[in-house]
Amino acid sequence: MVARTALPVRTPVTRSVLMCRPDFFTVVYRINPWMDPHLPTDTGLAVRQWEQLYRTYLDLGYDVQLIDPIDGLPDMVYAANGGFVIDNVAYGASFTYPERQPEGPAYMRWFHDHGFDVAEPQNINEGEGDFLLVGDTILAGTGFRSHTDSHEELGRIYGREVLTLNLVNPSFYHLDTAVAVLDGTPGQEHIAYLPSAFDETSVKALHDRYPNAIIVTEEDASVLGLNSFSDGYNVVIASRAADFDRQLREHGYNPIGVDLSELLLGGGGVKCCTLELRR
Ligand code: ARG
Repeated sequence: MVARTALPVRTPVTRSVLMCRPDFFTVVYRINPWMDPHLPTDTGLAVRQWEQLYRTYLDLGYDVQLIDPIDGLPDMVYAANGGFVIDNVAYGASFTYPERQPEGPAYMRWFHDHGFDVAEPQNINEGEGDFLLVGDTILAGTGFRSHTDSHEELGRIYGREVLTLNLVNPSFYHLDTAVAVLDGTPGQEHIAYLPSAFDETSVKALHDRYPNAIIVTEEDASVLGLNSFSDGYNVVIASRAADFDRQLREHGYNPIGVDLSELLLGGGGVKCCTLELRR
């Protein structure tokens, strides 16, 4: 319990994000344990749920950019995987599975057409799905998707420290399913994470660096509760992540729940649908 008097003052910083409407969302292949091509999906419902997230961002005053969805690329809605952007430089994605590979160039074209400098990737990586900026450090996941060679490439491109974290649970195959950046401001870094998603070395690294981190329950993580998006005060989360909601309030944040149950059938949540654009 954080004492009331100790409630930290949280200041929101308006965000600029890229999203992709799930007009062609469905599950026709299986590249993570959440996906089952035999289960029916409802594209209309996916769109309505996605629009709730989109409106939430607009209501928060964010700048929300949209990339056109492409027929035949059902996972394109998970915009976080389309690249990683800092200092107006967009490091392109190079997807692990052939099913998603055409998304890489599509996103790079969008970045190029919208005034970003594009760094063409030399190594397999899935963008902000596996890379999270916390202060001046890039947390970089590996184990299921992004290769560690891409971590070195990131360090060279951005001249920032890159901390490799090893994911071990196939249900939490991207870093953004196991870590939430609540405050990335240098000097006041604050994250939430699920320890069991990482190997021992990585848990120790996270614990040493972020001793005040929020540790979420397995239950909240299993509805992709960590797959959330924070502006330093408002934290958009899965509405079903009840205990995470409570913990966020205790730490002075304003959690806002949205229901993306249909997109969970593809193995993604709030953060997966959101790519931060740092100009
Ligand atoms: N079906 C997609 C995949 O397996 C889901 C991607 C979720 N995105 C994320 N940033 N975690 O690649």
